[in-house]
Amino acid sequence: MWNPFEMFFPKKIIGIDIGTASIKVVEISKWGGGKTLENYGEIKSVSLYKEEEPFRTFDGASYMLSDFFISRAIKAILEETGIKTKAVIFSVPDYSTFCISFEMPPMTEKEIPESVKYHAPQYIPLPISETTLDWKVIGGIPGDKKSNIRVFLIAIPNQVVEGYKRVAEGAGLELYALEAEATAITRALIKDVKKVICLVDIGVQSTTINIVDHGDLKKSYSFNFAGGQLTYAIASSMGLANDKAEQLKNEKGLVSLDKEITKTLYYLIDPLLTEIKNVSNDFYIKEQKQVEEIYLTGGTASLPGLKEYFQESLGKRVVLPNCFSDFLYPPILEENLQKIGPSFSVAVGVALGGLKNGKK
Ligand SMILES: Nc1ncnc2c1ncn2[C@@H]1O[C@H](COP(=O)(O)OP(=O)(O)OP(=O)(O)O)[C@@H](O)[C@H]1O
Ligand SMILES: [Mg+2]
Repeated sequence: MWNPFEMFFPKKIIGIDIGTASIKVVEISKWGGGKTLENYGEIKSVSLYKEEEPFRTFDGASYMLSDFFISRAIKAILEETGIKTKAVIFSVPDYSTFCISFEMPPMTEKEIPESVKYHAPQYIPLPISETTLDWKVIGGIPGDKKSNIRVFLIAIPNQVVEGYKRVAEGAGLELYALEAEATAITRALIKDVKKVICLVDIGVQSTTINIVDHGDLKKSYSFNFAGGQLTYAIASSMGLANDKAEQLKNEKGLVSLDKEITKTLYYLIDPLLTEIKNVSNDFYIKEQKQVEEIYLTGGTASLPGLKEYFQESLGKRVVLPNCFSDFLYPPILEENLQKIGPSFSVAVGVALGGLKNGKK
């Protein structure tokens, strides 16, 4: 987690995920050994249905935040939900970060920061002076003369960091940290799991496939598979407006739409299954460890029939974990939290990172 100010995090913190479909906000707090979901809110991007500027856009080369609209939208969520906390952590999308793992020679704990800076330029296509680095040791024993050190490195372009600073300021919030989506969902969804998990986040614009080995994120890949394609496929083949097609997709998914349309949906989804198989095979070749289970998250994970289709095609148990499951919250929220859980994993993950770093 990028935490430049080394501030102690307060006991209550806000996590925000500025997604393509919607902005998600959660406010969480901790007490003793537990945590409470204090508040949450979401504002959908109308740009998905109308010709308006989306919250965030990606043209294949650069990533843009429309600062003004986002700050205004966040302010609206804070007002509506009555959130007063100012400390915020934002997630940064996979396509504007660089994730890589690499090995360095044996060294002591103290030598690692300098060495990461020395090795990083080989792996990152941007000058190091223009990026903010964050890393974690995922293999080897610092101080052991025979043990190479393996690190998982995330680099965020400074330009992206500046964008988030402006958004926070515009919304009247205090930016405490930034974190990549991949590490956020790992924290939110994989707890005490002693297995190799393939964690897949399917949003609107891009999909990430991550390998988490006994709780440690080892690999993270980003693909162009877009959940949004499914809606467009239904809209165009049935001659429907996007909002109607979206509703139909979410209700019927792969289960009860017209056969021809279902075929098109499978056709769009299959490349993602191939990617999951490739990533898993690649991990097996490098580490001799089989992926044991598949975890699905992101809004599209809720597509009716998707879990079963993945299970059948991949021959592994497929789980849809809920990021709210170990929070304390009023029981009346249960049904809604079950429903929105998959799309809140990132926001919950970044906020949890803040609580973890905070003072006891
Ligand atoms: N019940 C459902 N069935 C199928 N798809 C759903 C369902 N609910 C939401 N979705 C889809 O999930 C997507 C939104 O997911 P999510 O909120 O994770 O995206 P995002 O984080 O805003 O996007 P991205 O991460 O790509 O920028 C939309 O495409 C929406 O159609
Ligand atoms: Mg997302």
